[in-house]
Amino acid sequence: MGRVIFLKLDMSSESCHFFRITLAVFRIAWFFRQHSAANRNITLTPVRTEARLPMNYFITGITGTVVPIIVEELMKKDANPYFYFAIRRGKKDMDVQERFETTANSMDLSYSQKESLIQRSTAVEIDVENENMGIDTAMYRELIENVEKILHGAADVRFDQPYENIKISNVDFTKKMYALFEEIKENRKASGQSPATLYYISTGYAYGIYKKPIPEDYPDFNPGKPDNTYAQTKAEAKKFLLDKIRRLDDRIVIFEPTIIGGAAGTGKTRAYNLHYVVMMLGYLGKLPFLTAPENRPDIVPVDWVAAVISDIMSKDQYHRGTLRLSMGSRSATIRYMHDMGYHYYTANDPVPGHVIPKIRFVPRWLFLSMIQIQKGWYSSLYFVTGMRRYRKIIKGIQLLEGYFPYITGYKVFENEKSTELIRKYTDCRPAPALHEIRDDEGNIIEKGYYRKILADTLETGWGGMIDFERLKKREMHSKSKNPKKVFGTLRK
Ligand SMILES: NC(=O)c1ccc[n+]([C@@H]2O[C@H](COP(=O)([O-])OP(=O)(O)OC[C@H]3O[C@@H](n4cnc5c(N)ncnc54)[C@H](OP(=O)(O)O)[C@@H]3O)[C@@H](O)[C@H]2O)c1
Repeated sequence: MGRVIFLKLDMSSESCHFFRITLAVFRIAWFFRQHSAANRNITLTPVRTEARLPMNYFITGITGTVVPIIVEELMKKDANPYFYFAIRRGKKDMDVQERFETTANSMDLSYSQKESLIQRSTAVEIDVENENMGIDTAMYRELIENVEKILHGAADVRFDQPYENIKISNVDFTKKMYALFEEIKENRKASGQSPATLYYISTGYAYGIYKKPIPEDYPDFNPGKPDNTYAQTKAEAKKFLLDKIRRLDDRIVIFEPTIIGGAAGTGKTRAYNLHYVVMMLGYLGKLPFLTAPENRPDIVPVDWVAAVISDIMSKDQYHRGTLRLSMGSRSATIRYMHDMGYHYYTANDPVPGHVIPKIRFVPRWLFLSMIQIQKGWYSSLYFVTGMRRYRKIIKGIQLLEGYFPYITGYKVFENEKSTELIRKYTDCRPAPALHEIRDDEGNIIEKGYYRKILADTLETGWGGMIDFERLKKREMHSKSKNPKKVFGTLRK
């Protein structure tokens, strides 16, 4: 694993002194030249820098959406980091080192930063259903002895999973991470080292259904009825960790982001789910109705979330408590997002002749009834015909149903206490706004980043979910087959 370079100089002979130093310098230069040449486009052997003790992190969720951005930030903020990444085998049994290097190579880092990240990392194979998360005994011991900071960012974020299934990734996994943290904590205490800290990414949605604004009630936590098994299991994990802080005074920081969207700086995202799916269906004309136009989905940009979390971790001053990462009262309304999206997509549509219908807003009861009728209709069609395409439509409707509480449901997050903590313990300002924020005279006082998000969806085809070339061909085909129909649609 680690490799240390020993340089031995014989100082006994004065006459050889100059020659030996020159030779040593030459050897070092030769070693580095060989090393970088051999590894220009392949994998690297981890190298430990022994000059200054590195800060050792154990991190879960590196193959996901949010954690890689936090690691990008840590690479900039921590002068000497070393990472252990907990990764499970991938699809088709893909090796964890390969999964890690694929992720590292996809990160927004320069070539040398990627090289440095790979050198300073160990991919640790895990299987959370096994004892010690399936980590090899020697490696588990190494983690106990070396790690100071744990970032537990892994979770199953699907909204349609059975409880028994999702509990493994969201509750059992957290308990096992805590068990490791406890051993690290005891080991560091016994050997007189600085205390360890566990950073856990929860979610504002762990509070479930709330009729009032969701409070920042730390150290209490009284969630409402969960919206789904994801919220339920994230709430269970949070309760478990809060109990440890209360009873054992453990150094645990719980982050509570709301909906994490694309970066405010670039508009880029690694995952096109939740509001992105709603935007895509709107663009495709497959969402004729929606509800609650005045609702304000709480969307925070991923680069801000990563900046706050990495600041808290690297500055090392805030060690106990919760930190809500939300927009609070500064969120944009659904109507704003729709109107702005409609104008942007119609003005910049890469598919000539493609018509984007405006979405009609209807009362909530009507909207929810329409969804149920549609689901019933397609379920009957599937029952009668057994055709897979109907099953796919039913799955799509179920997925959307999972999203509705987040987008059209009443969720308002208080964030005054956290805003103050962020001001005190990080270099970050409150979360950037998606929309333009204006003063009483209508002057823009904060420029929004929504256009960047919209541009990214068209540039990437919602991360490849839409093939514009195929859509173009389909438009041309339907135009030539049934010009009246297309004309009719155009006129609407
Ligand atoms: N995205 C949001 O809008 C949002 C909002 C609030 C809070 N959060 C929280 O932020 C964290 C990161 O979310 P994300 O959006 O980045 O999720 P994501 O893209 O779905 O990534 C989830 C990560 O967790 C790993 N993982 C899940 N179950 C695992 C298991 N049993 N064993 C090993 N690894 C496992 C996944 O590994 P594989 O690649 O192997 O699947 C992946 O690396 C989560 O804790 C989530 O609850 C997210």
